[in-house]
Amino acid sequence: MALTMPAHMADHSKTATTDVIVEVRDICKRYGDVEALRNINLDFQRGKLTTLLGPSGCGKTTLLKIIAGLVPATSGEICINGKVVTGPGPERAFVFQDFALMPWATVLRNVAFGLELKGVSQVERERIARHYIGEVGLTGFEQKYPHELSGGMRQRVGIARAFSVNADVLLLDEPFSAVDEQNRRKFQEDLLQLVEKERKSFLFVTHSIEEAVYVSDRIVLLSPRPGRVSQIIEPLIDRSAAPDVIRRDKGYLDVVEEIWQGLRQYAE
Ligand SMILES: Nc1ncnc2c1ncn2[C@@H]1O[C@H](COP(=O)(O)OP(=O)(O)O)[C@@H](O)[C@H]1O
Ligand SMILES: [Mg+2]
Repeated sequence: MALTMPAHMADHSKTATTDVIVEVRDICKRYGDVEALRNINLDFQRGKLTTLLGPSGCGKTTLLKIIAGLVPATSGEICINGKVVTGPGPERAFVFQDFALMPWATVLRNVAFGLELKGVSQVERERIARHYIGEVGLTGFEQKYPHELSGGMRQRVGIARAFSVNADVLLLDEPFSAVDEQNRRKFQEDLLQLVEKERKSFLFVTHSIEEAVYVSDRIVLLSPRPGRVSQIIEPLIDRSAAPDVIRRDKGYLDVVEEIWQGLRQYAE
């Protein structure tokens, strides 16, 4: 089989190498006696979504938090846009598994909160917040409180908040885990649109192999603790096809199966 790269793909890879935002360099993490991560080396590019997939406890959340600057690494470095970072920064936004919304604040205030922390004026932050509330489909809910929303809607608030601070890097830790299957699929489709539109780097964690294959440009399979990179898979899926066509596509189903074969050795 010939492996010549078509001209348009060669161009693409050239842009890609200059578009690295996050560099993870030889990261190791111990919590006391527990070795959570060992020698993680990864690059993340603008305009791409990478998923971390691996058994529970393999260090996925830990790695996202180290990249976010919320947890210190035991050794190794994180570079953002070419500079070593040692704490949180405005280029990175974290969407937590449990949404982490303020229950006493409205949707509008929750979304604008990151901007409030940055000292953006109220008029300006509300303008930006309203824009992203619209982007995630929550127009009309600005004055509602978190308890008045469904799990899926609360997650949209978390995503709108992450977008509103205009970070280059979005760290999404199992954001759809509390959402039912029907809404989850809708979310996956919305997420793909955001990736295409927003030229950011998306780092996504999920338990679902199907979800990973559906949304990812690249999937990093991690081994059980201590988490190491065991395999990198790039599902080449034609995203221009309709969602139901993709979900039945042979290429899509083959990648799901390939990943399952890679992970089943770890199943209990
Ligand atoms: N703050 C902590 N203190 C001690 N151990 C921790 C802490 N956070 C995570 N761990 C341990 O590190 C390992 C990796 O955890 P985590 O990153 O949450 O994995 P995952 O997100 O892949 O399920 C687990 O064994 C977990 O118990
Ligand atoms: Mg986790």
